Amino acid sequence: MTDNFFIENDPFALFDRWFADANKHESEDANAMALASVDEAGLPNIRVVLLKAWDKRGFVFYTNLESKKGVEIIASGKVAVNFHWKSLKRQVRIRGLIERVTKEEADAYFQSRRRISQLGAWASQQSRPLKDRDTLMARVDQLESDYQDKEILRPPHWDGSRILPLEIEFWQDQDFRLHDRLVFKREEGSKSWNILRLYP
Ligand SMILES: Cc1cc2nc3c(=O)[nH]c(=O)nc-3n(C[C@H](O)[C@H](O)[C@H](O)COP(=O)(O)O)c2cc1C
Repeated sequence: MTDNFFIENDPFALFDRWFADANKHESEDANAMALASVDEAGLPNIRVVLLKAWDKRGFVFYTNLESKKGVEIIASGKVAVNFHWKSLKRQVRIRGLIERVTKEEADAYFQSRRRISQLGAWASQQSRPLKDRDTLMARVDQLESDYQDKEILRPPHWDGSRILPLEIEFWQDQDFRLHDRLVFKREEGSKSWNILRLYP
């Protein structure tokens, strides 16, 4: 599959096209991405989160900032993510810096979530030890009765992070493992990209 892989010299235009393809072809969660961070000892950590918004500024996901990942990304200000779209034999790798989304953006997204997910954001002390599942469900029940008929506001520790990309690699499987790799790189603060191909 050669596709018109190189028609764009703008990584966002290429991501737009590939993400649309993924949404068409992947059976579930085309927006799932593995998010890597490092802990205070420099030991890498990785888990899946969902891409909830993106534009030319960057790629947005939401999480509990008091979670393991929250603490790590606040400390280092740097992350990497990886999308693997198996049905298309494609991967996209993004490395970059982190900034918080605006309060308005985070509030609007939180309000768009189902009520039970909003309660879950309050109930979960994400990444901290939990005695048993009953403890979690009891917290949810308690919150449900506390918030009955009341608007649930976004917890201050539950927020959106935008990845400001410095590097975006597009990888397309090709026959005989002679894959295509196209990398867009830029310096912090720059809007223009250097484009290079890498050996597979
Ligand atoms: C498909 C999928 C989507 C997920 N989406 C999110 C997400 O958007 N935000 C989030 O905080 N955790 C999400 N999780 C859970 C994380 O992978 C992880 O278990 C959790 O955030 C705790 O990670 P941490 O202890 O490294 O902070 C998702 C997991 C899966 C499998």
